[in-house]
Amino acid sequence: MLCQSDHRDRTITFTYRLGDGVSYAGDIVHASLSNVSTGEIAITDQEFADFQEFVYQSAGITLSSAKKALVSGRLLKRLRHYRLSSYRDYFQMIMSGQEPAELQTALDLLTTNETYFFREPQHFEYLRTAILPSRKPGEAFRIWSAACSSGEEPYTLAMVLADQLGATPWEMVASDISSRVLAAAQAGQYPMERAEKIPQAYLKAYCLKGIGAQAGRFLIDPKLKTRIRFLSVNLNASLPQVGTFDVIFLRNVMIYFNTDTKRQVVERLLSVLKPGGHFIISHSESLHGITDRLKMVRSSIYRKA
Ligand SMILES: C[S@@+](CC[C@H](N)C(=O)[O-])C[C@H]1O[C@@H](n2cnc3c(N)ncnc32)[C@H](O)[C@@H]1O
Repeated sequence: MLCQSDHRDRTITFTYRLGDGVSYAGDIVHASLSNVSTGEIAITDQEFADFQEFVYQSAGITLSSAKKALVSGRLLKRLRHYRLSSYRDYFQMIMSGQEPAELQTALDLLTTNETYFFREPQHFEYLRTAILPSRKPGEAFRIWSAACSSGEEPYTLAMVLADQLGATPWEMVASDISSRVLAAAQAGQYPMERAEKIPQAYLKAYCLKGIGAQAGRFLIDPKLKTRIRFLSVNLNASLPQVGTFDVIFLRNVMIYFNTDTKRQVVERLLSVLKPGGHFIISHSESLHGITDRLKMVRSSIYRKA
């Protein structure tokens, strides 16, 4: 098989599938997820407090004082980039609006984006064995990965949906506040080590193995990608028009929110969850005291009345 796909204005050539020797060759869009070392510029308590306030006001993220080194480490390369000698100068620069894109860059650097394919696999098993078999016939099944990071969660969902639903229509929205990880999600290209938890049958069916310059990487089949709408959405602000959903995944993001922010975010998302729809959070999170509009069906899986 040899086909060409125009992907983010770049042409990629695909030859054969991962698992049975399928591969692709071509350009790659890769977002660096690495941190930088702290270096010699120290961050003062006041400077740290300014960034705490910034990230809380813009994303609802609460950074404890234990995150001081992390904040200074992640922002240091931006100080270097602009040849600034203090975090105060950098803060003033992003607040002045003289470099409008820099606000988003700072926010990107201050979010934590850890994720992987088939993370907390019980959720995908529940989707496959309980939610999908009891879906309403005749309607497109709609699902939202509401803090999708670099795409591993929505693509895991997409593989399960494509495998289980066949010709039945389904749609997905995948969103995040960080433009950096959203670009990586849209690119859908990963180092081969990230494929470790993807079942062989799904690798064969939905992943293309890189060859030549792309050796050691794999690409999510564009057929899956076209079913996903990638959106920049701040869950800490009014939602854009996204329609209503049968299932919402909100995993491993509420841990960064305080109780008030959690309540507001959950309320916002429940307004677009269909009656009887499922709401799925991480096993390490809790909705205790957050809402009484959801009934727990099993640990970390909830249903709207
Ligand atoms: C740890 S990742 C979780 C990824 C995936 N859901 C999972 O469980 O593997 C948390 C994601 O939440 C995003 N995030 C943080 N605050 C957000 C907000 N206010 N609105 C939307 N996304 C946010 C971050 O950018 C990050 O990519």
